[in-house]
Amino acid sequence: MNKTNNEEVNFVVNNVPKLEVKGEPLMSEKNVLEALTFHKSFPQYSVTPLHKLSGLAEYLGLGSLFVKDESYRFGLNAFKVLGGSFAMAKHISKKTGIPVGELPYKVLSSKKFREEVGQTTFYSATDGNHGRGVAWSANKLGQKAFIRMPRGSAQTRLNNIRKLGADAEILDMNYDECVRYVNEQAKNDPNGVMVQDTAWRGYTDIPSWIMQGYGTLSIEADRQMIAEGCDYPTHIFIQAGVGSLAGSVAGYFAEKYKDPKPVICVVEANSANCLYRSALRGDGKIVRVRGKLDTIMAGLSCGAPCTIGWDILRNAAAGFAGAPDWMSSMGTRIYGVPLDGDPKVTSGESGSVTMGFLYSIMMYKRYDYIKKALKLNNKSRVLIVSTEGNTDPVRFREVVWCGLYGIRHRGEEMIK
Ligand SMILES: Cc1ncc(COP(=O)(O)O)c(C=O)c1O
Repeated sequence: MNKTNNEEVNFVVNNVPKLEVKGEPLMSEKNVLEALTFHKSFPQYSVTPLHKLSGLAEYLGLGSLFVKDESYRFGLNAFKVLGGSFAMAKHISKKTGIPVGELPYKVLSSKKFREEVGQTTFYSATDGNHGRGVAWSANKLGQKAFIRMPRGSAQTRLNNIRKLGADAEILDMNYDECVRYVNEQAKNDPNGVMVQDTAWRGYTDIPSWIMQGYGTLSIEADRQMIAEGCDYPTHIFIQAGVGSLAGSVAGYFAEKYKDPKPVICVVEANSANCLYRSALRGDGKIVRVRGKLDTIMAGLSCGAPCTIGWDILRNAAAGFAGAPDWMSSMGTRIYGVPLDGDPKVTSGESGSVTMGFLYSIMMYKRYDYIKKALKLNNKSRVLIVSTEGNTDPVRFREVVWCGLYGIRHRGEEMIK
């Protein structure tokens, strides 16, 4: 049963015993560069913007604030395609014995290559973004996609996946049940491969490649911050559903920058706070959240942590937080109506929660303890990722036009 207060922030400092890492780290710069090189071979590739929000940084009392805007990724409105596409390439590489460096877009999308290697059906469960990325990649690379979505998934998201030629449907199951169902379907198909964006015991290759694929956004942001003359981030706030993205980002930055290491805070939806609960449990074992996992943050509505993501996060994260839905709505509105001189960012429910969270802990006195625990001050160089744009226009309008989850803590003491 979920005993969390869903309207409040729930925060825990990470005191989980560290895990010893053997061999090359999953998110080593070498592995991430391999993914970046692959993505660069796509004609649709361009570096997504890194916005500098100087006005807001000053307003909140931070040194600087950068937002990596993934709404621009391959025209798909979310970062997710980075994972599915790279995992497909790595799968084909393993199957053929050809190094992934010799399998750029041009080769993989050629008819000749497909005729030689054959066609695979890539199976996946999704709230929308991952499935769209898988469907898009399969479509571009001449493969097939079988996508199923949990109950409550937005019709627009389903339509976007179908438009890419995938066999896609919404099922009356929650996300984790949907993953198990699709996995069974994949096992029964001799040409089927499960491309899921989370790992479990015995299923780690594909999610490892997916996390490395996400690494493209980290290496881009890293380079963009350096180009801004800003050095690396002292603080990173990263949202999590299963924690593959958070593990990917944390793994890359914690591996590359050790002295001082960036302070990384994972932000989940309260109703699906499996990583927060795992950190709260404190012995390194993961905790699953069951039930409906109701939240407007569809991409974060996952109850079972990604095991390999967790292994990185327990070592690299400074804290784990659960955020209420109103923080996501607040984040969307802050992004959409910026301070003078700051750029406007279009950020959907799962994309915007770290903005709402950062704003809240910097502004409301009740969250001062989190600001202190994370050592945030006017020297902090903060990086957050807007992981999706407007992927559910109906919900987006409810938030922005109609004020869904409006004003909170009215009249309460604020910093300003
Ligand atoms: C927009 C968006 N942001 C963040 C996430 C969280 O990623 P993960 O499930 O790897 O934690 C998702 C997952 O689907 C997503 O769609």
